[in-house]
Amino acid sequence: MTTKTSSLDRGDASGHGSRRAPIVAVQESLVSINVSDTRVMKNEVGYVLLGERRLKSEVLRVQNQVADMQVFEDTSGVKVGDQVELTGEMLSVTLAPGLLGKVYDGLQNPLALLAKEHGFLLPRGIEAESVDTERRWEFAPAVSTGRIVLPGQILGTTPEGIFEHKIMVPFDEPGAVELSWINRGNLTINDPVARIVRPNGAERTLTMAQRWPVRRPLPERMLRQRVAERIYPTEPLTTTQRIIDTMIPIARGGTACIPGPFGSGKTVLQSLIARHSAVDIVIVIACGERAGEVVETITEYPETRDPRTGGSLMDRTIIICNTSSMPVAARESSIYTGITLGEYYRQMGYDVLCIADSTSRWAQAMRETSGRMEEIPGEEAFPAYLDSSIKSLYERAGLIQGPDGQTGSVTLIGTVSPAGGNFEEPVTQATLATVKTFLGLSAERAYKRFYPAIDPLISWSRYLDQMSDWYAKNLSPTWVEDVKAAHELLHRGDEIYQMMQVTGEEGTTMTDFLTWQKSVFFDMVFLQQDAYDPVDSSTPLARQKRSFDLVKEVIEADLAIEDRDTAQDFFTRLNSLYKNLNYSPDDSAEYARYLREFEDLVGSKRMKVADAEQEANVQSERSDFETKR
Ligand SMILES: Nc1ncnc2c1ncn2[C@@H]1O[C@H](COP(=O)(O)OP(=O)(O)OP(=O)(O)O)[C@@H](O)[C@H]1O
Ligand SMILES: [Mg+2]
Repeated sequence: MTTKTSSLDRGDASGHGSRRAPIVAVQESLVSINVSDTRVMKNEVGYVLLGERRLKSEVLRVQNQVADMQVFEDTSGVKVGDQVELTGEMLSVTLAPGLLGKVYDGLQNPLALLAKEHGFLLPRGIEAESVDTERRWEFAPAVSTGRIVLPGQILGTTPEGIFEHKIMVPFDEPGAVELSWINRGNLTINDPVARIVRPNGAERTLTMAQRWPVRRPLPERMLRQRVAERIYPTEPLTTTQRIIDTMIPIARGGTACIPGPFGSGKTVLQSLIARHSAVDIVIVIACGERAGEVVETITEYPETRDPRTGGSLMDRTIIICNTSSMPVAARESSIYTGITLGEYYRQMGYDVLCIADSTSRWAQAMRETSGRMEEIPGEEAFPAYLDSSIKSLYERAGLIQGPDGQTGSVTLIGTVSPAGGNFEEPVTQATLATVKTFLGLSAERAYKRFYPAIDPLISWSRYLDQMSDWYAKNLSPTWVEDVKAAHELLHRGDEIYQMMQVTGEEGTTMTDFLTWQKSVFFDMVFLQQDAYDPVDSSTPLARQKRSFDLVKEVIEADLAIEDRDTAQDFFTRLNSLYKNLNYSPDDSAEYARYLREFEDLVGSKRMKVADAEQEANVQSERSDFETKR
């Protein structure tokens, strides 16, 4: 166990050397230092020197020669007059091969490793190498010396699990540089791997590791220099959850939120999405949930089989974990640590899914810190900049094309846990104003065990229209129209149901009664999905289309049913047949059998064309008769 900070962590970005400043005030996790003799930057990292221990902290505000710092650890024992050592580096993470499969806390300390020795709650002042510095990686250069390369351009690769980890020109390089030397072979992440020369002749030696400040979007500078480009998301991210992919889709490189009351299934849904989504890499940011739940996440993922590779899901996952019992400041930073790691793999051209559970805890951490700094509070005591913090967080999602033409994505899905399930509160509202997919969970549906408990009547996706070309080309020319019709059916079904609460079933027309039955059928067999059935838990998009078409057949059918009992009976049988179909593997004998039975049953009640014409004639004769009268 290394209990010192990593050599990389001691980086001296600003060239100030080691500087110290005395503490002038301590207020829980907030310490103030006198910086009249030292220049400090916002978000600069410092260490409170407490005997042998060094407590990591970050500058949040500099005002009148005083800098306020949040300390990422328990500050008991810290007193006025103690020294803080400033590092000149912003709060940063290490980007290098060896990140996949790791469990980190919000400051990129490897948690599983530390946990083995210290339990899940870390003792103060303990830091470990974020990535193994002794392990060797086979580095294969991709460019030769003399080449002019751009920031973010690929210099070479090394295998990391099932992926090619790309080693790129540092993202903070001001512009094009010349490659003056490149290495090859078995290297550690701190061995020199290449040398670049700037136009002014300054030389820089590169290793396989880079540092990046977590609060700054990784492609920011490259986007400004036009060596990377943001691309508009036009393709769906298949989660294999029918209610999402078909009805309320998320784009690859898009944003979504899952607000839901206590116990409505946010975490279960997140982990279903993590397990089955069509992405390369998953970053799970568990911020501030109950300790028990986090331990569950850490133990569950490695044991979960990856449906895409057959290996362990953990091989392509990074978990960032902070329980609510960890210091609030570490919780606040965890979301940035997670998203920065996501951006790094996106830059290599991979599709990354970042899921944050729950962003409410992150916002609460922000509120606590802001309160301590006595900032002017906004609604419900959240800081006035809550909206802009949420917005800039979700803006880090997206599709990015790098200088080698590689396109990668970060899709960001955050859960929100509003107190009492009240979506009117500030965090939910600010999130809804930012994201493009809203998957609202309802306590009522969870109570009825209608899982996933996404309420289709309140949820929406702005991507449905945005991706219409893709759907037209890949699913059907009328896809978007058909999906909208299905949404309408659900709304109409709900209206009829509300009406029936007043008038009773007898008070509705047969046509309305059948419409209601159809909407219930659609809900039961298509929107609901059994998370614990090996087949039903995950429906590929092609199968979703087939399923949807079958349901559509029922929805669009003119049914020759005259009374409510027959209708009930018909739909009950249809329901059970369809569920069996959902549980049957593709191309299995039982799938074929249930499909046949389903078609026969629908056929038996479908109004024959002749009947339908006759019915229409009767109707028109009747109305002629009525007009004549
Ligand atoms: N898709 C599902 N299928 C079956 N059961 C489910 C499903 N989703 C949730 N549940 C049930 O609901 C319980 C609570 O789910 P979960 O922990 O995901 O809720 P949550 O919204 O994350 O709660 P909290 O607000 O406490 O974080 C689960 O333990 C499980 O029993
Ligand atoms: Mg939860």
